[in-house]
Amino acid sequence: MSRIRKLAAFAALAALVAILAAACVSSDPDAAVTPADAETVANIAAQTDEDGNTVPAEGAEVPPAAGGEGEEGGEEDPAIADGEAAFVASGCSGCHLGNGAEGGGVGPQIAGTGATDERIRTIVENGRGAMPAGLASGGDLDNIVAYLLSLQ
Ligand code: HEC
Repeated sequence: MSRIRKLAAFAALAALVAILAAACVSSDPDAAVTPADAETVANIAAQTDEDGNTVPAEGAEVPPAAGGEGEEGGEEDPAIADGEAAFVASGCSGCHLGNGAEGGGVGPQIAGTGATDERIRTIVENGRGAMPAGLASGGDLDNIVAYLLSLQ
């Protein structure tokens, strides 16, 4: 007798599971469609390349490493990095050692001299002493100014 009861209980349970499963599938098919105005979010998770190295996802903005440069948690203006590159490309680093961070070259150290935006522009545009005029201009000069100000 108890065996039959167990079977009945099992059958009831199976029926319940079947009903619940049916309830899950019977959702509104329209609700599963991505709305046309949905925002696409790029996958910024790190990827693994063919050599097994972890690389940032293509187009992902890699968050700066914690404890990096700068007091604001390493958030750096991209103009500063571009400016350092322009400082080298424009030949400034040939005279200003350590990309302007060190003394001892033909040109003086620029880091920590309190150089201002205006002073840097005037000197680069007009030259000064042994320093030739007009080595950088336009966007390059803007970035160089941002870079040199970041050294102050
Ligand atoms: C041929 C060597 C030479 C090159 C190249 C050169 N400089 Fe200079 N720079 C100097 C010298 C020398 C001085 C010091 C001039 C003086 O005061 O008599 C100087 C001074 C400066 C100063 C003033 C520092 C201060 O506050 O007193 C800045 C800023 C500067 N250079 C930026 C640059 C930048 C930016 C470039 C590239 C676009 C550059 N220099 C390329 C030689 C050079």
